[in-house]
Amino acid sequence: MPVIALVGNKGGAGKTTLCVNLAATLAASRDTIILDADPQRSSLQWRIIAEDESTVPVVDAVDDLPSQIDIHVDDNRYLVLDCPPSVQAVQTRQALERCDVALIPVQPSPLDLWATVHIENEIERARQRNPDLRAFIVVNQMEPRTRLSRLVRTALAELSVPAAATAIRRRVSYRNAFLEGRSVIDLGSRGADAREEIQQLINEVLES
Ligand SMILES: Nc1ncnc2c1ncn2[C@@H]1O[C@H](COP(=O)(O)OP(=O)(O)O)[C@@H](O)[C@H]1O
Ligand SMILES: [Mg+2]
Repeated sequence: MPVIALVGNKGGAGKTTLCVNLAATLAASRDTIILDADPQRSSLQWRIIAEDESTVPVVDAVDDLPSQIDIHVDDNRYLVLDCPPSVQAVQTRQALERCDVALIPVQPSPLDLWATVHIENEIERARQRNPDLRAFIVVNQMEPRTRLSRLVRTALAELSVPAAATAIRRRVSYRNAFLEGRSVIDLGSRGADAREEIQQLINEVLES
């Protein structure tokens, strides 16, 4: 399952954070490329900060995502697509029509969950052309043991897109790694918990 898209209807949900950390983790097992389809170009910025040849390559695909997918897609390579914070954006629609797995990060707040209702419709529409599309909501910036988090779990059960069992916690390691153009796999023991949850998410959404 080589093409994974980070999509959603809100900025600040964690698309770029998950994009670079998933890609860096996937790159340990297989050739991996990020296609940045968001006009904000945050994944590209991350790659520029990295200044490190071994960092996952990031390709600018803002203006031509379908052709960049055609150029780079390969059974032996993961493509990770970073999308704009809108389901109406042409890049989001293009990504949903071509990806194998769509991940929709949401913050554990009711407002953010309501915004995902729109993406549910977009996913249904994309399945007319891409019937095997698999989609998961990924709760990001989860703060465990809060009442809100429990309410969010209840609300998620009412959406038609399933939520991944693996939630991503709010951790400074994600912010710090990004600022240095790195991922949590580069942080040694400081990144261990984050690394584990990212790997768990990969196992869940790619291998189930
Ligand atoms: N799990 C997390 N823990 C801590 N900070 C996070 C986490 N996920 C995202 N962030 C921070 O939240 C902000 C928005 O995340 P970002 O990935 O840029 O969202 P998006 O790409 O959806 O707009 C960034 O400052 C990022 O560092
Ligand atoms: Mg982003």
